[in-house]
Amino acid sequence: MSVTVDLTREPLSDGFRRPITYLRVSVTDKCNLRCVYCMPELGLPWLPRDDILTYEEIHAVVRAAASVGVRSIRLTGGEPLVRRDLHRLVAAVASVPGIDDVALSTNGLLLEEQLPALVAAGLHRLNVSLDTLRPDRFEAIARRPGLERVMRGIDAALALGLHPLKLNCVVMRGSNDDEVVAFAELTRDRAVFVRFIEVMPVLENLEMHAGTYVSSNEILERVASHAALKPAPGPPGNGPARYFAFDGARGAVGVISPLSHDYCERCNRVRLTADGRLRLCLFGDYAVDLRGPLRAGASTEDLAGLLRASMLIKPERHHLRLGEASSRMRAFSEIGG
Ligand code: 5AD
Ligand code: SF4
Repeated sequence: MSVTVDLTREPLSDGFRRPITYLRVSVTDKCNLRCVYCMPELGLPWLPRDDILTYEEIHAVVRAAASVGVRSIRLTGGEPLVRRDLHRLVAAVASVPGIDDVALSTNGLLLEEQLPALVAAGLHRLNVSLDTLRPDRFEAIARRPGLERVMRGIDAALALGLHPLKLNCVVMRGSNDDEVVAFAELTRDRAVFVRFIEVMPVLENLEMHAGTYVSSNEILERVASHAALKPAPGPPGNGPARYFAFDGARGAVGVISPLSHDYCERCNRVRLTADGRLRLCLFGDYAVDLRGPLRAGASTEDLAGLLRASMLIKPERHHLRLGEASSRMRAFSEIGG
C-alpha cells in the first residue's frame, strides 16, 4: 500500500491550543524490574498477547501521527527492551517521513547488548532510569539486582556519543534522597542530564508511605547548598523539565515536577498504550481505542481523522494531588521523557 503523507496540513493541536508534536509509544506492559513506585512486587495482570499492537500496527499509527504533525516518537514500556527485536520497530519508525526524532526510555538492564542494533536502526536519544548509585539500594528500589548492568549500558551509550543522554531519578525520602548531590556531581565531567522526578502517588504504589514525596524545590535546594547552581538550557526537545548547572559542568541537572509545578501547561504529548489506546493525559481515563479501527482496516487518513477527533477530549490538566492516588490503570514509564 502506498500512502501520500501531506506534511503541509494544519498540525494537531488540542482544545487548549497546545500543539501536539510528541507521541509516546508503549510497546509492552511487561518489565524486568519491579520498582517500588511503579509496580507491585508480583507484577501486574499482563495484557493478553493478542491485545498488544504488532510492530506493523504501531508503524501505521506513527505514519498517521506524522501526517498530522507529530515529529517526535519515544518508545517506552513497561520496559521496551524486553520486547523482541525492538530495533526493527526503531527502524520502521525512523523511516516515517516527518519523524525526525526517535527516542527510547529504558531501565538500562538490556541496553549494553542491544544498543549497537538500536543505534544502527536510527535511534537518536536515550533516557535511562537510575534511582541510585548504590547496588544494595538498587535491589531495594527495583526489587531485583542489576545496577552494574545498567551502568555498563550507560557507559556504552556515552562511548557511542549518544547525546543528549538523560538519566531519570525518582527521588524518595528516606530511600535515595541523600544521593541527590552524588547524582548532580555526575554532571560535572559527563555530558549527561540528570533529571530528578517527584514521585507520584498512583494505584500501583499505594502501600508506599506518603512521606516519601520530596518536592523539586527541596531537591534543588539540597543540590545548591552543596555547590551553586545556575539556570541552564536543557537538551533540545520536548521535556517538561527545568534545568540548572554547576559552573563549568558539562551536563546539567533538571527537575520534573508533575505535582508541585504546572507541568501541564506546556504539554505537547499523547501516548499510545501497548494495547492500542490513545491516551490523552497521564492520568484519568481519557482514551480512544485505535486497535479496533486498525484491525478493521482503517487507512492512514482514517487514523489521522481519529487522532484529530481525539484532541477534543484532551483535558487541560491533571488533577492529581499530593496524598491522593490517581486513576491511572496500569504502571508504565510515563513521566521521564
Ligand atoms: N512517580 C514518578 N515517576 C514514575 N515513573 C514511573 N512511575 C512513577 C511514579 N509513580 C517514571 C520514572 C521512571 C520511569 C520508568 O517512569 O521516570 O524512571
Ligand atoms: Fe520497570 Fe520502569 Fe516500572 Fe521500574 S519504573 S518497574 S523499570 S517500568
